[in-house]
Amino acid sequence: MDKQIMNIKENPSKNIPLRGEITVPGDKSISHRAVMFGSLAQGKTRITNFLNGADCLSTISCFQNMGIDISVTPGEVIVNGKGLHGLSAPLKGTLDTGNSGTTTRLISGILAGQNFSSRLSGDASLNSRPMKRVIDPLTQMGADIRSEDDNGCCPLLIRPARLHGIAYNSPVASAQVKSSVLLAGLYAEGETKVTEPVLSRDHTERMLRQFGAQVSSVGVTASITPEPTLLSQDIQVPGDISSATYFIAAALLVPGSEVLIKNVGINETRAGILKVVSDMGGKIELKNARNLEKDAPGEPVADLLVKYSPLKGTIVEGALIPTLIDEIPMIAVMAAMAEGTTIIRDAAELKVKETNRIDTVTKNLRKMGADITPTDDGMIIKGTGHLKGADLDSYLDHRIAMSFAVASMIADGETKIKDRECVNISYPSFYEDLYSLCR
Ligand code: S3P
Repeated sequence: MDKQIMNIKENPSKNIPLRGEITVPGDKSISHRAVMFGSLAQGKTRITNFLNGADCLSTISCFQNMGIDISVTPGEVIVNGKGLHGLSAPLKGTLDTGNSGTTTRLISGILAGQNFSSRLSGDASLNSRPMKRVIDPLTQMGADIRSEDDNGCCPLLIRPARLHGIAYNSPVASAQVKSSVLLAGLYAEGETKVTEPVLSRDHTERMLRQFGAQVSSVGVTASITPEPTLLSQDIQVPGDISSATYFIAAALLVPGSEVLIKNVGINETRAGILKVVSDMGGKIELKNARNLEKDAPGEPVADLLVKYSPLKGTIVEGALIPTLIDEIPMIAVMAAMAEGTTIIRDAAELKVKETNRIDTVTKNLRKMGADITPTDDGMIIKGTGHLKGADLDSYLDHRIAMSFAVASMIADGETKIKDRECVNISYPSFYEDLYSLCR
């Protein structure tokens, strides 16, 4: 795959309109969960449109390492689940979670309830990300979990313990924290509740219900009843709205563009980008929206028709932030090309993603001549409607690489992005797909 990426010229597409249809790969959050819950269910779970990115492959290899038979073909992933108590001690020692925060935090909750010990560790970026946010609530549930180096980060050491349900008030709106606690709740005595300051993505609650768990969601509180019998499912993973965002932005920014992005997940706890785009004056239409009923199994999806549009500045804040947290680097680039000022606040979580994204977005946008001021919980961007080509760094962060690949399509002059192949984390065929629309 690396070779394929390297064979694509850095920017063959400058100011060439994007036209046509595209289907983006399966949703990353949903792909992870389908493998995890399929492993804990009885029987054969069939997953179609699974995201074959490095992060989701880390989840697969962790569960294979715990004795689950999982087969991966280009069309589908089959997980032969062994039930809630069917995992076994890792065959190959440490569970390697790579670059994936979702794998690490969700698996911690599952491992806390097992009758074997485990050790979790990932790459340098992952091992510097905060894990105290899951260590704290899991410890309150009775788990024996600690940071090996006592720095609140991975490697994590988890030993068998008896868990009891808690009512946890999470200080952060994080689906990874919420999911970790709910998954530990599968193995706890009594009910487990998690209340968030603002609702984060609810894929865990939806999918666990589909597998047969008793999960209730009331406002910002989710509760789970222990020891359900989870039964295997057919899971059709919708296209990832976070990946679709790069195509939305490219179509909005390059004059003459018109793109139909098919089969995109539009779960309202995930789809804040759609609101921001219309607030900025972007022309985006939802077509063929389906599976919208509140209790329908699976996730709502639609096709998105996006047309070139002059953009204006906006304010992105509050409850909207968790619904678009991964899209902020791309929003920042759009803001630099818009007329007027964009303010992004309440987004301090950006600092603990694959990179400190307040920092990495600011560095790259400044190199491109944008007027951006970083703040403690976001950024202020005065749109100039213009970016210049520059030598940029992805900082090995897939979302930074993809956001600035789009920026380079409308920047004057040449742009180079160091380590651009890190898109493999969530979107291995990103460059081919993006440039295939330029005609
Ligand atoms: C994710 C939740 C978000 C998001 C990440 C995926 C998930 O992280 O940024 O890319 O699948 O639950 P937080 O829960 O830390 O906000």
